[in-house]
Amino acid sequence: MHISIIGTGYVGLSTGVGFAVKGNEVICVDIDKEKVEKINNGISPIYEPLLEDYLKKLLKQKRFRATTDLKDAIEKTEVSFISVGTPSKEDGSIDLKYIIDASIQIGEVLKSKKEYHVIVVKSTVVPGTTENVVLKNIEKSSGKKVGKDFGLCMNPEFLREGKAMEDFLNPDRIVIGEFDKKSGDVVEKLYKNFQAPIFRTSIKTAEMVKYASNAFLALKISYANEIGNICKLLGIDVNEVMKGVGMDRRISPHFLNAGCGYGGSCFPKDVEALIRKAKELGYEPKLLEEAQELNKRQKVKLVEQLERKIGSVKNKTICVLGLAFKPDSDDIREASSIAIISKLLEKGAKVKVYDPKAMENMKKIFPQIEYASNAKKALEGSDACLIVTEWDEFKKLTDTDFGKMKNKIILEGRRVLDRKKVSNFDGICW
Ligand SMILES: NC(=O)c1ccc[n+]([C@@H]2O[C@H](COP(=O)([O-])OP(=O)(O)OC[C@H]3O[C@@H](n4cnc5c(N)ncnc54)[C@H](O)[C@@H]3O)[C@@H](O)[C@H]2O)c1
Repeated sequence: MHISIIGTGYVGLSTGVGFAVKGNEVICVDIDKEKVEKINNGISPIYEPLLEDYLKKLLKQKRFRATTDLKDAIEKTEVSFISVGTPSKEDGSIDLKYIIDASIQIGEVLKSKKEYHVIVVKSTVVPGTTENVVLKNIEKSSGKKVGKDFGLCMNPEFLREGKAMEDFLNPDRIVIGEFDKKSGDVVEKLYKNFQAPIFRTSIKTAEMVKYASNAFLALKISYANEIGNICKLLGIDVNEVMKGVGMDRRISPHFLNAGCGYGGSCFPKDVEALIRKAKELGYEPKLLEEAQELNKRQKVKLVEQLERKIGSVKNKTICVLGLAFKPDSDDIREASSIAIISKLLEKGAKVKVYDPKAMENMKKIFPQIEYASNAKKALEGSDACLIVTEWDEFKKLTDTDFGKMKNKIILEGRRVLDRKKVSNFDGICW
């Protein structure tokens, strides 16, 4: 099939490349010229394993390209996915400005398109948005009618950053919220060679499935952190506890890793958006609110732990290993490292950092801190080390590497180090 993807970020690019890998012809659209140029030159604007290799192959096969020309992309395709960002407003509610712009622009193109076209919302949007905002804006700017001139679906994306290609190509399930059967059939056809159950439902339900899934995973992590904080006081290793807990099939071993909090572009903002939506409807979602509050406290817990060990951090050099919100990604949106570095700077510490992929992004937020070219250099002369992202390369660090520190104080916010290679370190919940 011929597919266009509107918004070529983490989700849009992975979706576009993924559909092309599955044999479709894909045109990705973005308003960011630089991004489009990079993609057409075979350079991925984001770090995501496998993505650039696939991209290079597909460009050679001429089954994939990027453009800033939305009109051309819509005219040459049958289905368009909207995967623009849905960030938070200052009050935590969802900011729909990119969704509104994209819907109006799509409608303007559909005005002169004769053939039936299906629009699919892939961005995460609060229930009601696809029908009340996307549909209405497209109908208004195109003068056309949904169900007759164009189709409409909501197909939430569940991929994890760092594993985007793997997850997109091998999903657990495919959820299709459909305006009518005709639109749903087009989207189901697109996924016919994916090995996953397809769940067809209403648009509003599909929108809620995404929020309910992310909120549950965020709750699971906050639960692990709560148990972890109690374990720490009891002198018990929470990781061992969760090994035992996760063996229960009703619970599953996933998302039970205690640590210095969840970040990224999804969990914090999606849970917050759901909280705001519930409040708007007159419901107080206390459970979700506490998961978010606990997460905020958990992010800076490492700094409190450090102060209990070494006293004031003022004028001390603190090494932070890991900036990305998770390994195998360069994404720092809502990363725990940001809260930790802010707290350290507020308390007068000198901060020295290293991350294999996320340093360029972090320089835009903290240009004043020191960026080391590798972990060993970051450790040299430091008064303490905080490990914030579980990159594989940190697992290889040994006593010799930490021996270069001024004082060998090591605190893990993620389970990374090997007790056989490193003696004497402490964990946030272990
Ligand atoms: N990142 C994830 O892991 C993930 C996973 C599942 C779902 N989601 C959801 O998917 C959506 C996209 O997330 P993301 O992380 O890919 O965002 P992103 O910020 O990385 O990318 C969004 C892209 O859309 C482009 N854009 C904005 N307006 C446009 C327009 N009118 N026309 C064309 N392009 C436009 C931007 O330039 C940007 O490149 C969000 O709703 C997010 O919640 C994200």
